[in-house]
Amino acid sequence: MPRQLFVTTALPYANGNFHIGHIMEYIQADIWVRFQRMQGHAVDFCCADDTHGAPIMIAADKVGKTPQQFVTDIAAGRKQYLDGFHISFDNWHSTDAPENHELARQIYRDLRDNADGSLIESKTIEQFFDPEKNMFLPDRFIKGECPKCHSKDQYGDNCEVCGAVYAPTDLINPFSALSGATPVLKHSEHFFFKLSDPRCVDFLSQWTQDGKLQPEVANKVKEWFSVRTNPDGSTSEGLGDWDISRDAPYFGIEIPDAPGKYFYVWLDAPIGYLASLKNLLKKRGQNYDAYMANPALEQYHFIGKDIVTFHTLFWPATLHFSGRKTPDNVFVHGFLTVNNGEKMSKSRGTGLDPLKYLDLGMNPEWLRYYLAAKLSARNEDIDFNADDFMARVNSDLIGKFVNIASRAAGFLTKRFEGKLGAVPADGAALLELLRLGHTVVERMYEEREYAKALRETMLLADKVNAYVDANKPWELAKQEGMDERLQGVCTVCIKAFRILTCYLKPVLPELALQVESFLNIAPLSFATITTLLPAGHVIGNYQHLMQRVTPEQLDALFGVKEDVAPVTQARAAPKKVATSSPAVVVSDPNAPGGEALAPVISIDDFAKIDLRIAKIVACEVVEGSSKLLRLTLDAGEKDADGNPTTRHVLSGIASAYQPQDLVGEFTVLVANLAPRKMKFGMSEGMVLAASHADEATQPGIYLLSPWPGAIPGMRIH
Ligand code: MSP
Ligand code: ZN
Repeated sequence: MPRQLFVTTALPYANGNFHIGHIMEYIQADIWVRFQRMQGHAVDFCCADDTHGAPIMIAADKVGKTPQQFVTDIAAGRKQYLDGFHISFDNWHSTDAPENHELARQIYRDLRDNADGSLIESKTIEQFFDPEKNMFLPDRFIKGECPKCHSKDQYGDNCEVCGAVYAPTDLINPFSALSGATPVLKHSEHFFFKLSDPRCVDFLSQWTQDGKLQPEVANKVKEWFSVRTNPDGSTSEGLGDWDISRDAPYFGIEIPDAPGKYFYVWLDAPIGYLASLKNLLKKRGQNYDAYMANPALEQYHFIGKDIVTFHTLFWPATLHFSGRKTPDNVFVHGFLTVNNGEKMSKSRGTGLDPLKYLDLGMNPEWLRYYLAAKLSARNEDIDFNADDFMARVNSDLIGKFVNIASRAAGFLTKRFEGKLGAVPADGAALLELLRLGHTVVERMYEEREYAKALRETMLLADKVNAYVDANKPWELAKQEGMDERLQGVCTVCIKAFRILTCYLKPVLPELALQVESFLNIAPLSFATITTLLPAGHVIGNYQHLMQRVTPEQLDALFGVKEDVAPVTQARAAPKKVATSSPAVVVSDPNAPGGEALAPVISIDDFAKIDLRIAKIVACEVVEGSSKLLRLTLDAGEKDADGNPTTRHVLSGIASAYQPQDLVGEFTVLVANLAPRKMKFGMSEGMVLAASHADEATQPGIYLLSPWPGAIPGMRIH
């Protein structure tokens, strides 16, 4: 029976581009979705931008955009990542779209007007207010001294130095991170979802403990029912009510019958799953209510371990008590770290820029394969390790799998017009073994045990390679009268390759497409592999299916800090758009020079940068680097004895200038930049140069130079 599945990934905050953690989540979900589609099930796979909330409003304000414009600009950058990594979403929407406004307001009304008693309650609470910005401050925007360890400049909810958790009102000398003003306490009416209502507690303890959740997730959730740690460190029994409203100004959805009050972003964010689906169905001319009323509909959310509370408590309760279908399950994954790095927090950049990966021409299916080879159904963290990545891709994916085709196809096309022959008896046994593997592989995909599915597949590939090694087609090809055997052995390899390709297809959709075309076969599915290709079937010419990963590519991918020059780095360095947003580095064709202006700084900020005129007294290429030149600069400096000194600066301008052309020229040096040890030596500052954000397609790097008359050492004001 074909199943009807509605699948989502978490809606990313629309305050920055995707980082590799997002891509991992999408790849995990996409593999599952593709697997289900291969099984003949109908899947609607949806996502959207999570657009609301104070951080986005503030980030937009900082760059002089309306929040609407800000999130629209972010949305415009999504496609290149999703297409680039072959993520097959059926729809990408926005939580600020009309469908979400309508649905959120309706769901709220349904909760409020619940026939068995309202689940919404209003209470007056006291909160910090910024008298200069005229707004209530979210905890993250209040800073001050930690009440426990007295570290300065700590956030309003917890101390990053000693780890203490507290309420903003506990901070010593609190100040607004937005204006610097001292916040004042102010009363305001807030709306609460009554999670502590016995109906809720009953429902949620049932919903979370009925065996559907991953065991480690269910156990964690269980704790929240018994004890709860309050912001002040005290504990309470059971679930607390959930504050779902925020005061204007707020970028969000206005609460019905409560002017000036908005839904807290986490109320409307998951409703965005439904809004995206509704939008998709509308585009297809399907009816949303009828779709949702289908009792066979299954609904699944892929999420990271940091947002479990929202998805296992608030979200099912919101749906259930508004009379809606609850999710069939929530699939929780761990965090991805890079090269044993720290977890990529929402505010920090990442060690592996997905766009850079694509720009370098690295194959997206390498990453899909590598991540799949590490993913299980448990919510444990996984690490992207460059060496491990290269080994898995080159030895397993290419060495064990892709090579089977390249070892066999050539003989068939050259010697037998591409025709498959009869399968010899030893080969028939091998193929039967491969086919039998499908039960395990299918179960592993279904259970999101991708590492196991791939391990099983690679064990089968090992068997095929052992068969090739035992039969040595390259020797058969040289022997008289062995034509039939040669054709038979190669036929077995190609048939085996077809089965293995099917097993890898959820992970490697593009490669599978190429194989389908090269083998002249219909799209592979687990159902089709039970029938083998007949003798006489003609395959096409083998074309190289996949390149190996090279160490140079990995160096380039991770080398930013090591060997890309200061000039380029100035642009490539992540720009923070808000305290809580990830890096934004996109080439925007509508912005000057391809990138939006950086946030406004004060003259004091600018004065911190000491720019000096410098004369290039020597210049040489850097052995081993195609990007760097080593400049020796005279910036008018002298040592303690009054002797002139120079500085060495490594600069990424080798593509634009010949060393000899620069000697004697004047340029601009950032003279008070901390010296940095790079792969090719120390760099004691940086020279200024201009380039377009999209360096790949827009020409040139242009070194700055002063008008004649300026002399080394002069400061630039
Ligand atoms: N906007 C909320 C989700 C709302 S869902 C109704 C949010 N956004 S997020 O952009 O911060 O994170 C989106 C997803 O990416 C989450 O599932 C989160 O767990 C996941 N990841 C963020 N960093 C990650 C890693 N380093 N590794 C794997 N997944 C990570 O939370
Ligand atoms: Zn502290």
